[in-house]
Amino acid sequence: MSHQLSEDDVIGVIGAGTMGTGIAQVASTYGHTVFIYDAYAEQLEDAEEGLRSILQRQVEKERMTQQEVDGILDRINFVEDLTGFGECGLVIEAVIEDLDIKQDVFKRLEGIVPKDCILATNTSSLSIASISAALKKPDRFLGIHFFNPAPLMPLVEIVPGITTNNDNTKMARQLIDDWGKTTVLAKDTPGFIVNRVARPFYSEAIRQLEEGIANVPTIDWAMKEIGGFRMGPFELMDFIGHDVNYKVTETVFKEFFYDPRFKPSFTQKRMVEAGYLGKKTGRGFYEYGDHADNPEPIKDEKLGKKIVDRIVAMLINEACDAVFLNVATIEDVDLAMTKGVNYPKGLLKWADEIGLAKVLDRISALQTEYREDRYRPNPLLKRMVRNDETFYG
Ligand SMILES: NC(=O)c1ccc[n+]([C@@H]2O[C@H](COP(=O)([O-])OP(=O)(O)OC[C@H]3O[C@@H](n4cnc5c(N)ncnc54)[C@H](O)[C@@H]3O)[C@@H](O)[C@H]2O)c1
Repeated sequence: MSHQLSEDDVIGVIGAGTMGTGIAQVASTYGHTVFIYDAYAEQLEDAEEGLRSILQRQVEKERMTQQEVDGILDRINFVEDLTGFGECGLVIEAVIEDLDIKQDVFKRLEGIVPKDCILATNTSSLSIASISAALKKPDRFLGIHFFNPAPLMPLVEIVPGITTNNDNTKMARQLIDDWGKTTVLAKDTPGFIVNRVARPFYSEAIRQLEEGIANVPTIDWAMKEIGGFRMGPFELMDFIGHDVNYKVTETVFKEFFYDPRFKPSFTQKRMVEAGYLGKKTGRGFYEYGDHADNPEPIKDEKLGKKIVDRIVAMLINEACDAVFLNVATIEDVDLAMTKGVNYPKGLLKWADEIGLAKVLDRISALQTEYREDRYRPNPLLKRMVRNDETFYG
């Protein structure tokens, strides 16, 4: 191993958007000197102003002292060129999700950063391998995937590509752990852990809506009150924005070579087409604003339980697949879903509690009913039921 990364290492961030600015804040809070670069000067100004006001609010709420806030801001250099990146021990790229732009950034960086500097991308949907192809030394390149907002969300997915050197993965992971984050290791596969395993949370809710099993507020009510989730699927999609949520679903579907398990819905596609993007446009599955007129949920426990059981069984099936194909360990899949998207329980722990045979029965019943490949039970789940095994012994 060439060296350990520590507080003394300078951290570079490329892209001063939502994620880049959040990551810069996290690194600076830990004590690093940070350089954050953006191709657009006004974006840098906005980022600095935005961060200043977020931190100032923390002082007003007495969550941070003025001295701490001044320290964090002093350590961050908002820069319009890459000169400062010549001193970096780690650079995290968070520019827009475009392969050509990302590759171009890394080609430029490679000529500037020290030879042992680790290079990382925060991409959500591009493969690590595809970006690494632009690099002369791809062994020092990996994915470090933060969640939004980076300073608040504890989870970070560490994603080595097939070209990444193990020591570099370990070094990067250790540093992110030191920043106080919960790291999980994920294989370079579409959606990594969270964005893959979470798909049925949305798709199976929409499917039940499409079938007329229940309306939007009833499904949300069931998932919160009976399922224990913090937000219902429709509320959450409205909050994320249907353009963003649909795009993730579509990308995962395409990247999985059109596996029907990940097929997007016409319902959500139409909402995107119509510009009903959710909270930000005042209209999604719900109406927002002063004259909002939304139906009440039908609080039928029996119906609610059926809705939850179906969605949770499909989530567990997906979590099993991630373990089955060695995308991540049992523990990391559970950590990812509790720390990355606030699920009330790890899905595999939940599977043990429900009983694997019961979960398999639920999925098999759906497959028998619909004869759709989307409902095929995972081979690992079937094997474990056959052998009377549990995930946590
Ligand atoms: N927003 C999220 O919830 C989220 C979560 C995890 C990961 N990500 C990923 O993080 C990355 C950034 O996402 P975001 O939401 O912060 O986007 P954003 O649009 O807020 O920010 C992107 C920034 O990149 C800058 N930029 C564009 N071209 C550039 C270039 N050539 N050089 C330098 N800067 C350039 C833009 O000016 C902008 O400031 C994407 O890869 C995205 O997939 C996003």
